[in-house]
Amino acid sequence: MSDILSSIQRYDSKEIVDLMEVNSDMQVEHFQLEGGFQYIKIYNFLLYPERLIDFLKGFPTEDRTKTILNGNKDNLCTDSTAPGFQQPIPHTYFNNTLSPILFNVLKHYHMLKFTYKMCNWNYYTNCCYPEMPAFNENYVPHTDPFSFAANIFLTDNEDSSTDLFKINIGDGKYIYRARDLSRHHKSWLEEKSRREIKNNVNEISKWKHWEGDDTYVRYHSIKADFNSVTMYKGDYYHALGYDAELNTDVRYSLVGVIN
Ligand SMILES: [Fe+2]
Repeated sequence: MSDILSSIQRYDSKEIVDLMEVNSDMQVEHFQLEGGFQYIKIYNFLLYPERLIDFLKGFPTEDRTKTILNGNKDNLCTDSTAPGFQQPIPHTYFNNTLSPILFNVLKHYHMLKFTYKMCNWNYYTNCCYPEMPAFNENYVPHTDPFSFAANIFLTDNEDSSTDLFKINIGDGKYIYRARDLSRHHKSWLEEKSRREIKNNVNEISKWKHWEGDDTYVRYHSIKADFNSVTMYKGDYYHALGYDAELNTDVRYSLVGVIN
């Protein structure tokens, strides 16, 4: 019994608030790119990023790669297709800390119409690691079902980014977000078919930092700087940029999403 008590990390609420304290000197920038894509970048965000890492490390996770390599892919709990692995973290830890701060930044730049009460938050970590494999070619650009994503980068990594892509639909035209692709029936069907082929195999392969092809054209790359935040709308085509051969350390980030 005493082993259980001593092995569970327990915090009081002030300790939780303190370990996520943000820097009053943080620098916030707003960028507007082609195709209507806009994003926020915050530099020098947390006062104690290493304290947040210690807090987050305590949460367990199902490792999809381990599951598949062990031949147990029919029993997967997670439906995430993210690179590496993710740890789900209850959003309640962030109610008095990161959620209202991130919301206020988005509101300041008129990036969302909702009130704070209308937002449902979900949090998870993203952990990419050296020599990690790809799952169903998850280095290829995708869109996410949620409204906004805030990526808080907690480690300093080489060649690490969020990359933005547009889909080439021919005749010199490009599509930047999922909702616009649905208006181009042929291209939408082609994209749907590419996704179905890719997602139906549950296949492990070599991870790569995808730089685009004739269909997905990269138009911007946002560096995943240590202790920075990147916020953008999830239905613009994007991919996680990480060189799993060059890096000798994990890329660890906390992601808050608004549904
Ligand atoms: Fe994503």
